[in-house]
Amino acid sequence: MAEPVQGPPAAAAAAAPRWLAGRLAVVTGASSGIGAATAAAVAAAGAHVVLAARDGQALDRVAGRISSAGGKATPVPADVSSEAAVDHLFAEAARLGPVSALVCAAGVLTPAPFAGTTPAIWEETLGVNLTGAFLCCRAAFTAMVPAGGGRIVTLGSLSGVYATEKFPGLAAYNVSKYGVIGLTEAIAVEGKEHGISAICLSPGAVDTEMLRRANPALRPGLTPADVAELIVALMDSPLVPASGANIPLFSNA
Ligand SMILES: NC(=O)c1ccc[n+]([C@@H]2O[C@H](COP(=O)([O-])OP(=O)(O)OC[C@H]3O[C@@H](n4cnc5c(N)ncnc54)[C@H](OP(=O)(O)O)[C@@H]3O)[C@@H](O)[C@H]2O)c1
Repeated sequence: MAEPVQGPPAAAAAAAPRWLAGRLAVVTGASSGIGAATAAAVAAAGAHVVLAARDGQALDRVAGRISSAGGKATPVPADVSSEAAVDHLFAEAARLGPVSALVCAAGVLTPAPFAGTTPAIWEETLGVNLTGAFLCCRAAFTAMVPAGGGRIVTLGSLSGVYATEKFPGLAAYNVSKYGVIGLTEAIAVEGKEHGISAICLSPGAVDTEMLRRANPALRPGLTPADVAELIVALMDSPLVPASGANIPLFSNA
């Protein structure tokens, strides 16, 4: 008869140190949806979280909820598509300590048929979703090198994964997410010698405002908390061999 598989003793598992505990993390898109849920989960794992998004009042509310739960959060309003704003964000973070973790959840989605995709829609979408991720990753990377390493999670989308079902009206969004997946791989290549790991999560439909705006008929298979829990588990895991990967997330249901 096969031996039952033994897990680690409960006490040892409970005592396992969490990678995030005591570290400084920056979460963008922290004013709502996946970013807000991730900020709360990262703080619950013991990190001090710097919350970034444009809406300062919404960030204050998220920070208040994190503080009430016993966590540490510092809101820093920032438009991630602006190099000056991202520099300011990371300068504020540096006042609190070395940044060890970054989650890039800021994103926009403006549905438009392809022929009606104006340069303004294209530029805003690429500017926030791709250039914004690039600027934040570059700033975090620059801070992580002298600190001896760090971990970055980017948010792609199934919309940016070849051969998954696509929906009309999302050309700019889809292209931005293809770019985020490539950006993550590039960071992993150059981060390896510095102890910096990067991983991309590409969810399908998550129950947020963005999904409701994009496609009200689509039934979400994931909650922001599902994605947040996975991000924290990845940050706390032996992540290094997976660096550069894109993980497509299908329904939880
Ligand atoms: N929901 C889904 O089904 C789904 C699926 C796959 C991937 N994703 C990705 O997951 C990420 C989070 O999306 P979500 O669903 O949680 O949407 P959401 O609730 O609309 O949140 C988007 C966040 O991005 C922030 N943001 C937008 N423009 C910004 C800018 N210029 N600078 C800084 N922050 C900015 C928003 O805050 P402010 O308005 O305060 O700036 C908000 O906090 C996005 O990258 C999205 O593409 C979502």
